[in-house]
Order: sequence, then structure tokens, then C-alpha cells
Amino acid sequence: MAAIEMEAVVRAFGATRAVNGVSLAVPPGAFLALLGPSGCGKTTLLRLIAGLERPDAGRIALGGRLVAGPGRFVAPEARGLGMVFQSYALWPHMTVAGNIRFGLRIQRLSYAEERARIGEALEMVGLSGMADRRPHQLSGGQRQRVALARSLAVRPGLILLDEPLANLDAHLRETMLAEFRRIHAALRTTFVFVTHDQDEAMAVAGLVGVMNAGRLEQLASPADLYRRPATPMVARFVGRGRTVPVQVLGRSGGLCRIAVQGRVVAVPGDAPPGPGWLCLRPRDLAATAGGGLRARVLDHRFQGGGHLVTAALEHVEDGGTVDFTLPRPPHPGETVELSLTGGWILPREALRAETPLQHRLLAGAGADA
Ligand SMILES: Nc1ncnc2c1ncn2[C@@H]1O[C@H](COP(=O)(O)OP(=O)(O)OP(=O)(O)O)[C@@H](O)[C@H]1O
Ligand SMILES: [Mg+2]
Repeated sequence: MAAIEMEAVVRAFGATRAVNGVSLAVPPGAFLALLGPSGCGKTTLLRLIAGLERPDAGRIALGGRLVAGPGRFVAPEARGLGMVFQSYALWPHMTVAGNIRFGLRIQRLSYAEERARIGEALEMVGLSGMADRRPHQLSGGQRQRVALARSLAVRPGLILLDEPLANLDAHLRETMLAEFRRIHAALRTTFVFVTHDQDEAMAVAGLVGVMNAGRLEQLASPADLYRRPATPMVARFVGRGRTVPVQVLGRSGGLCRIAVQGRVVAVPGDAPPGPGWLCLRPRDLAATAGGGLRARVLDHRFQGGGHLVTAALEHVEDGGTVDFTLPRPPHPGETVELSLTGGWILPREALRAETPLQHRLLAGAGADA
């Protein structure tokens, strides 16, 4: 039974559909990251799961129990979940133990049981011995751990985290990501972790949902998102992908034969013959004399010990921009010969025309499209 199940969920604020028809199923014990640009609806989706927002349409079930849908709405405190926010939201006048106890108050436990839960939660986040401190006597990372301990103490079946690391410096973020992974592995509770940082999402989660303009573009493992993006948005958002228009000539055995710059090459993918999009990451291209592809340098910067070059593929109309690395700085306007060492043809059903040329190509693809 899925830990979270959503069916065609919509939440609108005036004319803005913050969440626009999202359906998903998250298996129990999963660590799901919700990833997407600012304003794409991540927080709203999390608040819908928590019961802090009511859907305008659609259904939400948690652990097989309908919590929101036509004629039904279960209040947040009755959903058996814990929530951790970016701002920690700790009570400044209470001690660490007091903050955690406050979260436990609705469970009406005995004093001894409360103490045991507080001790257990603090141990889990590595803060044993700090129970009597107040929030201002803690570092940012420690405060975030208290916020996590407070939700763990309730022993929820589901923990929702909204950009919990956004206030921390890069080093502390790394440490806390490792902590979240460790705690998740120990508890096997379902975690939903919202972030707009793809490295954070890929590092921490077993399952990543990419959102764009209120929609869920793809829900997959980090490796699948990277290797087999389902939509142009995912291709571009994850791992600096570029999308290049190509003609698919045929497919067999997980490969597509494509024509690009008048040459025929085989690339992994599963799309029918017709216009298609090739997703290329910097690692999918290598500068090779006689490589067959020609690209004119537009820009470059030093990164990761090499020169990351942005270049326009010759004779590719509209969106034929690619990135690759060179061991040396390129000359401005230089033409570099490239060979294809990877890539991925986007599935046809994912293609939505975004530019006039794409409209023309897709319209011409006929019944196949
Ligand atoms: N209470 C509200 N009233 C009106 N509009 C809202 C409200 N909450 C969210 N929105 C709008 O809904 C859209 C999605 O907002 P949401 O906060 O879910 O985005 P997000 O993906 O969490 O963004 P960020 O990464 O910046 O936190 C935005 O356009 C936002 O302005
Ligand atoms: Mg948000």
C-alpha cells in the first residue's frame, strides 16, 4: 500500500494553479525529494499532503486512508505526520527538551514515556546532552536537528521537510544530508524532502519528483532522471542537459538512429521515426579531430579543472546549443569538432512544442506524433 497516493490533485490561488493535476504514488519507506525551480508548487504540494491546504480537486490518501477528497478532509494533527520547515520554528523561550515535549503534547503520554521519547529523539540526531539548552545557545545545524528531533519524537509514519537546509552553509548542508540519510535508513519512515537544489535531491533521495509550473514532470530514481529524462524540462533541469532537435530515422534494441548535421548515428532512446529531441550533457561530447560534429564556440568558463565550453552546432536551427569540456581555453568563435559519446532521445509523448520551429516540426510529424 502506497505511503502517499495523489490522484489529479489541483490547488489554485486565484488564477495561479500552484498544483495542477498531480498524480503520484510513493512506496512506504521511500525517501522522496521534490525538486523544481522557485514557484513550481513544491511547498504547496507538501502542504496538501500535510493538510495545511485543501485540494480544489482530486484525492489524497496516506497509507491507504483517504485524507482529502470530495466530501472528506482529515485535519493535519490527525494525519500522523511530522513536518520540518526551513525556519526551524523552535520556541525561543523553551529548552530543547521543552520544544520536543511541546510537539508530543497531543499524544498525552506519561511523564516517563515523554522523557524516553525525548532522549531517544535527541540521541537519533546526535544531540544527547543538549536537552537543557535554549535555541539561541545552538548553531544553525543544531537547531535544525532539534526541529527534526521534534518531529521524530512523535514517531510519525511520514516526515515532510521543506527546504530544511536552506539556512545552512555548504559544509553543514553536506553533513546534514548524510545525517538525514542515516536517520532515514535507521527508521525506514517515509521522508518527503523539498529542495530546489538538484545536487541535494540526487544526493539524499532514492526517488526524485521533478516539478514544473504546478505539474509533476517525472518521478524516478536519480540515475533514471539523469540517464532517461522523460521531458525536455527534466533534460535541461537535471545535469546541465541541452536539447537539440534531430530527425529520428528508426529504432531497435533501445537505440535510435538519428540524423544530425547530415550524419547518421545511433543513440540510446525509444522514440518513433520523425522529429525528436536529443538530450546532451557535457560528458556526452568529446572534442575529437574528425569527430563529425562541428560547433562554434559562444562562451566558456573554467570549471572542474577544465574549460566548460558553450557552442552552437552548425546547421542546427533553433536550440542547437551544446556544452562540452576542453582541456585548454578555446579561441573566441573557434569551430571545434566533436564526437558523440552518449546522449538520450526523449520519448515522443513527452514532447510539447515550446518554440515556433518545434511547433512546425511536431505539426509535420503527422499521426505518429
Ligand atoms: N497562499 C498563497 N496565496 C497566493 N498564491 C500562492 C500562495 N501560496 C503559493 N502561491 C503561489 O503558488 C505558486 C507555487 O508556490 P509554492 O510556494 O508552492 O512554490 P515553491 O515551489 O515552493 O517555490 P520556492 O522554491 O520558491 O519555495 C507560486 O506562484 C506562488 O506565488
Ligand atoms: Mg517553497
